Amino acid sequence: MKSITANDSIIHFNDICYIALNEHLKANNFSKIFILVDENTHELCLPIFLVKLETNAAIEIIEIESGEEHKTIDTCSGVWNTLSELDADRKSLLINVGGGVITDLGGFVASTFKRGIAYINVPTSLLSMVDASVGGKTGVDLGHLKNQIGVISTPNLVLIDTDFLETLPQNQMRSGLAEMLKHGLISDEKYWNKFKDLSKLSLKNLDELIYESVIIKKNVVEEDPFENGLRKTLNFGHTLGHAIESYFLSNSNKKDLLHGEAIIVGMILASYISTELIGFPKQTTEEIKTLFLSYYEKVTIDESEYQNIIDLLKYDKKNNHGNINFVLLKSIGTPKIDCLVDDAVIIDAFKFYAT
Ligand SMILES: NC(=O)c1ccc[n+]([C@@H]2O[C@H](COP(=O)([O-])OP(=O)(O)OC[C@H]3O[C@@H](n4cnc5c(N)ncnc54)[C@H](O)[C@@H]3O)[C@@H](O)[C@H]2O)c1
Repeated sequence: MKSITANDSIIHFNDICYIALNEHLKANNFSKIFILVDENTHELCLPIFLVKLETNAAIEIIEIESGEEHKTIDTCSGVWNTLSELDADRKSLLINVGGGVITDLGGFVASTFKRGIAYINVPTSLLSMVDASVGGKTGVDLGHLKNQIGVISTPNLVLIDTDFLETLPQNQMRSGLAEMLKHGLISDEKYWNKFKDLSKLSLKNLDELIYESVIIKKNVVEEDPFENGLRKTLNFGHTLGHAIESYFLSNSNKKDLLHGEAIIVGMILASYISTELIGFPKQTTEEIKTLFLSYYEKVTIDESEYQNIIDLLKYDKKNNHGNINFVLLKSIGTPKIDCLVDDAVIIDAFKFYAT
């Protein structure tokens, strides 16, 4: 039974999370409870969640369509309208039960409705447990550009019940695992080494790894809440990863690429660039590529598409004065932020990935 404090909110794990939830509901006299779900978490997670909920407050369920393409301001408008029609007031509580789309969008909706109502996040995907659960980032996409609109705000509670993962599709598990691998690469060789044989991973041994991953992210975020330095290291693999994700999302002839799948490509590219520019051991880059491609299908990116993806980098929110800042690695656990990288090196990195 574990709980940790991150920013101003408390993250509770497994057994303890429903005790904490019900105590919180008792201690705060919420006028009404709204639960935001998508159609998958409505069917697979909500029934489990409702059984654990102890409250006399009225409960309303709000469902939105699943998927990144629905993480938009239009969807927010729909939820704001529904809250309004159902008489939500400033003492209402929104509980977001779902993956990162639900917790990001629901957090944003709650933070802005009537200038902010209380909310609780119940991440049900691996990605939302190990990544979106910490750090207070909420928001939505703008067209095909990810997370362009949003605010930083913290939920009252975060409840991580890893039993929800039993129904999570395998590709979504792999997507979340990518962020855990990133946490190892940027901060902790010991943690990284636990992933050396990905075929041995199972739901049973994942609980502890999830907990450690949340701690790694929490430590980084707390040391640098405003992203001036250390927090930027969480962007390892994400500069190109986000551009690849946006590119695939905006091209109907490309297969759907999950966030984590794009980040895996981004991390292989960033490892190669680290070797070229700051002496990250070549052998380790080769090992990372081999390990990742043993578990993640290789993504086909044609040479003619490299420049289109590079062009998308200018929209990266982490850009500063027009410079595209990469996070690179000197060694495992030793990242270097604010690295400038020429297009030619990025193109070589794409070629390294492709061979
Ligand atoms: N706020 C942050 O710090 C932060 C960090 C990382 C990612 N994100 C955001 O998170 C989003 C990605 O998160 P995601 O991968 O969870 O996406 P998601 O919310 O789209 O969930 C992925 C899919 O899994 C389904 N699902 C979720 N839980 C399930 C369960 N237990 N059983 C069966 N199906 C389930 C969902 O319905 C959806 O179809 C992106 O929008 C990304 O920008 C935010």
